[in-house]
Amino acid sequence: MTVDRRTLAQSLHFWARNASNESALLRTALSLGLFDALPVKGGAPPVSMTELARRIQCTHRGTRALTELLVCLGFVHLDDARELALIPTAAAFLRDVDFRKRLEAQHPWWDAGGRLDEAVKQGGPVAHGGASWDVLGHYRALFLTAPAPGPSPEAEDFFDRFARSALRMQVLLASGRLGLLEALSSQAHTEQTLGATTGLGGEGLSLLVALLEQLGIAQQEGATWRLTDEARQLLGGKALPYLLRSLSVSERYWEALGRLDETVREERFILDLKDPEVSQRFYADNSSQITAVFASHFQLSRRAAATVAQARALEGAQVLDIGTGSGVWGAAFARATPTTHVTYFDQAVVLEQVRRNVEALKVSDRARFWPGNLFTQDFGEADFDLIILPQVLNVLRPEDLPGMFARVARALRPGGVLVIAEYVLDERRDGPLDHLYFGLRRFMTNEGDLLSASEYGQLLADVGLSSSVCIPLPTQELVLAARPGVPLPTTLAPPPDSSRKSAA
Ligand SMILES: C[S@@+](CC[C@H](N)C(=O)[O-])C[C@H]1O[C@@H](n2cnc3c(N)ncnc32)[C@H](O)[C@@H]1O
Repeated sequence: MTVDRRTLAQSLHFWARNASNESALLRTALSLGLFDALPVKGGAPPVSMTELARRIQCTHRGTRALTELLVCLGFVHLDDARELALIPTAAAFLRDVDFRKRLEAQHPWWDAGGRLDEAVKQGGPVAHGGASWDVLGHYRALFLTAPAPGPSPEAEDFFDRFARSALRMQVLLASGRLGLLEALSSQAHTEQTLGATTGLGGEGLSLLVALLEQLGIAQQEGATWRLTDEARQLLGGKALPYLLRSLSVSERYWEALGRLDETVREERFILDLKDPEVSQRFYADNSSQITAVFASHFQLSRRAAATVAQARALEGAQVLDIGTGSGVWGAAFARATPTTHVTYFDQAVVLEQVRRNVEALKVSDRARFWPGNLFTQDFGEADFDLIILPQVLNVLRPEDLPGMFARVARALRPGGVLVIAEYVLDERRDGPLDHLYFGLRRFMTNEGDLLSASEYGQLLADVGLSSSVCIPLPTQELVLAARPGVPLPTTLAPPPDSSRKSAA
């Protein structure tokens, strides 16, 4: 168990993507009694995941989604026999009655804590669930008042993750939504000119800038507020819109994170992406979000195409991109040679955006757009030389993966290669942390599970793709699979020449 020391760049990345996941994880584990159900390491014998799920009366998958993260964060120990125990330091503070009360007092605040922008605009309490919530007072008490001393530094760190992590995401979200970050990025302001620019004022505005100061993003010099030097460097150019987009994605999970206990206990999905209407809305929005960052994803997908080309010529290849999203993966293969032909498969509503992106890259003459449902679609027999599954297997529930791989293997020509881009877990399934948080979101939206390289290898071998390799890309992994004897690359190609880069 280590106390985090991050740079501002690392913090911004964490606050935008995973801070709310972290608070929800700890809050849910506490409220479900998961910590209490675990034996303390070195005391009683450790327990299996199945036994832990039985003790807390939750689903196995839900229990696993929480526990793998708790192992990665160092609160729970996983031994070589895959048995679990609570780390003694954590046991000590979690069994401290006063500290426990302090944690439990935070519990009712999740929903109201998500209404910071409303509270700032109103400059006073917010009505929610038939009660009035002093949201500004809550943030002030947590961030701007000296904390009551906890039983240990580890306890304070736990409290910070439990209570403040998610609220830091809300501070950034509210500051972005209310125009404060944009105003401060463009120039220094007095509180008065900041008020005039954002339409905010009074206690709400004063608190929000003070919170940004506390996060190391803003600083006061005399009567003026400006971004800190570090924040100005980090939020220049396209970085601020990029940050705001990540925050708005995280915001979509807020309610479901607040009710994560229901999902872990009985797989009741608050944001259910298996509901076709919810999925269409969510992924149409996702497609425009990822189109906005097309250029950076294109660097990655072009590098993957170059990696495949090391072992298999792409000239004249028939490529199928399943769950194409923005088209960025298929388009990278289309741009690799003038003769590669790509079929882009996704929900019809998503393909509208893909069509525009493919046109912008001038590869529409070698494109086919195939709307359908990836859970049931027959992809044909031996029609494709390359099939790409880019960040799409995590949409399928684990029990649907064997059927999906069987359909894909059937559609692949004998010498064909399957290209999977995914977040692949370590063999112990206890990291990397960002991947596990991504997996938590997939679990809570009734979607897929993340796998280790050997778990992929086994499922692929079951459908005849017994030759597979896992090559790390920056931020995710590439799993390539084929029938025996088909050559596969083993190393990542160098980054593509940026002078040939093109974005939609
Ligand atoms: C996580 S996104 C990945 C997008 C893209 N491949 C990328 O890497 O950026 C998953 C994609 O699967 C698609 N998808 C989800 N459920 C689907 C379904 N039932 N049928 C077809 N496509 C689906 C979504 O529309 C979305 O574009």
